[in-house]
Parts: sequence; structure tokens; C-alpha cells
Amino acid sequence: MSTPYQIAPLSVSWAMPDPPMPAQEYFKWPDIALGATTPLEQKLGWPGGTLRVLDEAFQRQLTRKYGWEISSKSRQAPFHMAARVFRRGVAMKDQKAEQKAGQYRIRFIKALNWNDLLPHTQLCIIDQAVAEAHDIQARPNRIFMRLDEQSKTLESVAELRVLAKKTGLHTPWTIVGGGILADTAAFAAALDGQSFRLVPTTLLSMVDACIGGKTGVNFSPYGKNQLGLFAFPQEVLIALDWLTTLPPREYLAGLAEGWKHAVLRGDPALAEKVAQLDRRTQDLHLYLRDLVAVKAEIVAQDPTEQGLRAALNLGHTLAHAIERISQDKNPADSILHGEAVGIGLLFCIDMSHTLGHLNDEAWQAMTRQLKESRIVPSPADLQRFLATDDLLNPGLMQELLVGIKQDKKNMESHASEWVLLKDWGKPLQDRGRYTITVSDDDWRRCYQSFIKNWAQ
Ligand SMILES: NC(=O)c1ccc[n+]([C@@H]2O[C@H](COP(=O)([O-])OP(=O)(O)OC[C@H]3O[C@@H](n4cnc5c(N)ncnc54)[C@H](O)[C@@H]3O)[C@@H](O)[C@H]2O)c1
Ligand SMILES: [Zn+2]
Repeated sequence: MSTPYQIAPLSVSWAMPDPPMPAQEYFKWPDIALGATTPLEQKLGWPGGTLRVLDEAFQRQLTRKYGWEISSKSRQAPFHMAARVFRRGVAMKDQKAEQKAGQYRIRFIKALNWNDLLPHTQLCIIDQAVAEAHDIQARPNRIFMRLDEQSKTLESVAELRVLAKKTGLHTPWTIVGGGILADTAAFAAALDGQSFRLVPTTLLSMVDACIGGKTGVNFSPYGKNQLGLFAFPQEVLIALDWLTTLPPREYLAGLAEGWKHAVLRGDPALAEKVAQLDRRTQDLHLYLRDLVAVKAEIVAQDPTEQGLRAALNLGHTLAHAIERISQDKNPADSILHGEAVGIGLLFCIDMSHTLGHLNDEAWQAMTRQLKESRIVPSPADLQRFLATDDLLNPGLMQELLVGIKQDKKNMESHASEWVLLKDWGKPLQDRGRYTITVSDDDWRRCYQSFIKNWAQ
């Protein structure tokens, strides 16, 4: 990665209403006991009862389409706070939507010395592993954090908020790390109305997580990224030099999302190059800007995911189910998100073809590209991640189906939602929606045929 490169910056405009989604219907809250302010609420600066409201909202399986109507007897503040962050924001009855808009630049830089490049007087929040690998030294304006999916939580947001307050430093925060740190720290910044710059250090965060304005944390037991805010950075600074220390598995995981972007762009030649980048990382700078631009453009068209943005979930339906089972069955050696996406992509391409939507030529080319690359783990790897010796085991298939539908309660519907492809750059649409309903019987048939062919 020693070749010098010069990549033109990208300019991204965004516009979004606040609250992000208009309500289709209102959920009328009954009076619930809110209890005293918890220590966590205190640290977050949230009104007492906010966590209770959030818990109740998930228990009741409310979705983003319901606005919230509060009976006059309830205390209002905790409901308002909870509505701001519940699945990145739902509308309150009588709340007037405000249109917000802005612009930021994504700059590609060659970084020689981060100790000098990082701001000296503003707050910097830095991934501990990155700091160690790149010898970023301790300074009064630097906070180091080591997070993983288990600690991507409100507790970490609260801790960060307390640490940030102690430094007495304000805007903008500079956030240096992978997607986990960026999602968490940007959420903390946005909660406190602080602006932030993002410096992604993994390939996945460069091509995906740092673009699009989604911030947030996991909320156990209700799942990944369930609490958050839409918030856009002032600037994104991408430097490929970080990747010299990124573990190879993490690099390939990022490449899976990059390949997905090339497919959505409708660019077989770009996808081919990306698939081959698994061994030739020094060429990444030639394609990185295009891969970033795909997501930026899709988000600009549909920031709140009411249409096209859903296509970015290509490969993610099966991926999420695999991730969940792997974390449960083999927590010590579980699959990475990008690895699961690699498998999910191979599968949804196959399913698109089996169900008669994707033409033979595109199906063959996409499948070949993925299989010739190292983006997709092997069937043997998947068996290990899922702690099984048979990927066609009916018990496992049932567990996958539960994961695909998000939870057991959804099992009565006998169908699930998928992003499918018609061709390069052409996700299948059904009445303006980019998710297609597939019956459980069809899914089983597609999965069985996929596994039989894949393992050969
Ligand atoms: N906001 C979004 O739109 C969006 C999109 C996609 C993914 N995500 C989120 O991103 C997260 C995954 O992010 P990720 O893949 O970047 O993982 P990550 O943040 O966990 O980073 C992976 C590992 O590599 C380490 N690391 C990071 N940069 C390094 C470097 N340059 N050298 C050495 N080690 C380094 C980290 O400490 C970590 O252990 C998930 O939580 C996912 O939900 C968010
Ligand atoms: Zn993803």
C-alpha cells in the first residue's frame, strides 16, 4: 500500500425530516408506571422512565409506522425522549415535522502521522486497538475505547458521555475506529447535539458504516442497532493506510459489502475487480471512491429507508440469521458480519435465480465472481461457525427461518421478506417496495438447492 494516490473528494447532500418517519397510525399508550430515575438514565441525561418506555415499546413490538399518542395523565418527557431514539425515531402525535438538510465531504487522504493529523484541542474518540496498532499516544483530548457487539450499548454511550464531559471539550468530536465505535460514539455525540467527524479504520466502515447517517447501539434482548438517531457527520476522512494493520478476516468482511455496492451500481466489471481485490489490496484505491459513492447516492435518494435504501440490505436477511445462531452456538469463534453477508449474497443471488427473477447470465457471472474470491467463507467454515456438521439439518433450517423472520412470534406468517435481484443494478420491486415476500416453502426449496450446489 505504498503507492501514492490522489482521489477526488465526494460531496454528499442529505435532507431528512425530524422525526424521520411520518406516522401511518398512532399507538395510544396506556398509563404505565414509570418508576424512579435509574443510574443509567441519570448518566445519559434522560428523564426517569425513558428506559421503561423503551422496554415496553419493544415488548409491544411497535414498529416505525406507529406514531405515539400519550394520554394526558402520563408524564410526557420520558415518552418524548424514548420516541427520539426508538428504532432511530418515531413521531409523537401533534409533533410538527421539521425538515433538516446539510452537506458533508468525504475526503481521501494519505496519512503519514496521525499523532500530528488528529486535532490537538478538540475531543478525539479512538478505537483502542487502532491506537495500539498505529502508536497513537495518550493526550488530554483523547479518549480510547475498546468496544465489541456486546458492549455496543447504552451503558457505553453513557460512559462516553461522562468521559467527554470531564474533558470540557466540545465540537466537533473526531471519531476514529471501525463501525462499532463509530455507531456508538456518533450516537453519543448526536444525543448531546455535538457535531462530529468520522475517521473510519476498517474497510467495512469506509465503504458502509460511516456513510448514511445511521448511528446507534444494540438493545438487549431486542437486538442489534435498535436504539439510535439519524445524524450526519461534518466530514468523513478516509485513509487507506489504516488497513495495513487490519486483520485479513476483517478486510475480506469489508470487501463483501464493497462487492454488494458494485452489484447495486450495475457494474459487472467493477464487481469483478472488487472480488479480485482479496489478494491485491494495493489496487483498492482505484475503486474505493466508486464503492463509497454507491451508498452515498442511494442514501441521498432515500435517507429514511422507505424505498430504495432497503436494497442495501441485499444479502442481509440470511446473514443476520446466521450471525445470531453463530453467536449463540459458537460464541468463541463466531462469524463476522461481512462474512455472513458474503454467504447471504451468494444465497440471495441463487434464490433470485431459482425463483425465476434473475437471468442465467447474471446469475452465473455473479456466482463465479463470488466463488472465485475469498469473500465467501467455505461451507466447512459455515458449519464450524454454526457448530453443526449438517447444513441441511431440519432443526438448523427451522432456526434459520426464525432468525430470518427476526423472532419466534413472527412464525405464523409462513413467509419472509427478501431483497432479490432481476439483473446487475436491478433489485426486484413490488408495488414500489424493494423487499419481496417469499413463502416458507419456497425458501426451504431454495435453501436446500443452494446448499447442495454450494457444497459440491
Ligand atoms: N451505521 C451504519 O450504517 C452501519 C453499516 C454497516 C455496519 N454497521 C455496524 O458496524 C459494525 C461493524 O463494524 P466493523 O466491521 O468496522 O467492525 P469493528 O468496529 O468491530 O472493527 C473490527 C475489529 O478491528 C479492530 N480495528 C479497527 N480498525 C483497525 C485497524 N485499522 N487495524 C487493526 N485493528 C482494527 C477493531 O478494534 C475491532 O476489533 C457493526 O456493529 C454494524 O452494525 C453500521
Ligand atoms: Zn452490512
